[in-house]
Amino acid sequence: MNDNRFYINELNKLFSGRSKKAYVRSFGCQLNVSDGEKIKGLLKQIGYSFTENENEADLIILNTCAVRESAEDRVFGIIGSMKKLKELNPSLIIGVSGCMTAQEHIAEKIKKSYPQVSFVLGTSAINSLPKLLLESVHGTRFSADIAEYDDFSETVEQVRESKFKASVPIMFGCNNFCTYCIVPYVRGRERSRSAEDIISEVTRLVQTGYKEIMLLGQNVNSYGNDLSGGISFPKLLRELDKIDGDFIIRFMSSHPKDASIELIDTIFDCSKVAKSLHLPVQSGSDSVLERMSRRYTAEKYLQIVDYIRNRDSDFSLTTDIIVGFPDESDEEFEATLDLIRYAKYDNIYSFIYSKRSGTKAAEMPDKISDEIKSERMRKLLEVQREISTERYQRFVGKKMRVLVDGISKKRKGFVSGKSSEYIIVEFEGDSSLIGQFADVEIIESMNWAVIGKKI
Ligand code: SAH
Ligand code: SF4
Ligand code: F3S
Repeated sequence: MNDNRFYINELNKLFSGRSKKAYVRSFGCQLNVSDGEKIKGLLKQIGYSFTENENEADLIILNTCAVRESAEDRVFGIIGSMKKLKELNPSLIIGVSGCMTAQEHIAEKIKKSYPQVSFVLGTSAINSLPKLLLESVHGTRFSADIAEYDDFSETVEQVRESKFKASVPIMFGCNNFCTYCIVPYVRGRERSRSAEDIISEVTRLVQTGYKEIMLLGQNVNSYGNDLSGGISFPKLLRELDKIDGDFIIRFMSSHPKDASIELIDTIFDCSKVAKSLHLPVQSGSDSVLERMSRRYTAEKYLQIVDYIRNRDSDFSLTTDIIVGFPDESDEEFEATLDLIRYAKYDNIYSFIYSKRSGTKAAEMPDKISDEIKSERMRKLLEVQREISTERYQRFVGKKMRVLVDGISKKRKGFVSGKSSEYIIVEFEGDSSLIGQFADVEIIESMNWAVIGKKI
């Protein structure tokens, strides 16, 4: 535990009466966004208010993602462009946090090549922010804390973006070391929060009006493996389902090697748990899955899909696919197309493989050209578009319960929201509906959304 009370008090004394503005920008997955909300929580205790405009900020924090090279390049571009801001306002403090900083060579590069940056903060060192900030305010040229800590910043109240959708991390880190993936290197080993802490946080959120609770972990199916008392993810879901109130529970991600029949049964049994499952398959080829070290075969994966479809053929599935893993052959890629045709996902999230230094796959030979990879991506998206178009038709004539999350960007006078199946639903309505559930009858389907009428 690193005690930050002292540093918060010192900063409070220093800033007293003067309003300070912070610009905090998070990249990457929802876990990182949730960390960004914790960073904001600490900054609020220090006395900062928040701005969306970096030009008026006294403090800028870039909370970064390292999952693909493009994500890192983008952040380096942004840090570079902030040199001008620092020249115009020398008292501006710029900090970099998140997954990029947990790689030592990146922290070194930031220190050496980007003098406009005052500190870097590792993924589990959020509680060190007040200390680093105080050092920067006192003029220290560069500070860093990228050590791994076990404490979960339980006492930090997140400053949440949304008043009705809340992310709740249930565990941190990953033990799986899929060969392409940087996450285990930048997020450390799996650490589960206690069920009591999670249940009391969700209860509080529901009591204050939150309607959607998104449980987060790199592999929620191994939740509790490091805790005593026999708690597991399905058991946690059953406990959360008992909390009073009108709300929906979602979760991600779920590693197929650990997705159990008990998990699927729990989803069907619990009325508050969303009827959709994100089950990242990555590839439909056993040889690629083996090289990725995913520890399941396409057949084993499809057994889970079959079990779900036998219970409800309309059940909504989504997945992640990596295209162009090192030396992926035409046959291996075709196996992925076969798998997505069989699994009939509502949506897929697909990525061209990106080499991450330090991972095992980065050492694997790869003769496949960028052109072939792009062509495969195009083909994958084309096949999925057809599947989505066909699958979305099953909703026409049905009723869906929708949590409205905004105004439609495509249709004037319409609002947009998500159904239990995680399908985008648009219908006529105004902003007063945002943050509310609405019952909607579906009258038309497309391949990215369905259109309905409020009942
Ligand atoms: N823990 C989650 C994944 C988090 S990363 C899970 O296992 O499901 C989100 C997605 O990014 C992964 O599912 C994968 O499809 C993609 N991804 C991860 N590393 C990648 C890389 N090196 N190149 C391309 N895509 C990658
Ligand atoms: Fe990465 Fe695999 Fe862990 Fe997901 S399960 S975060 S893909 S190593
Ligand atoms: Fe990116 Fe880190 Fe998430 S690498 S995807 S922000 S865990």
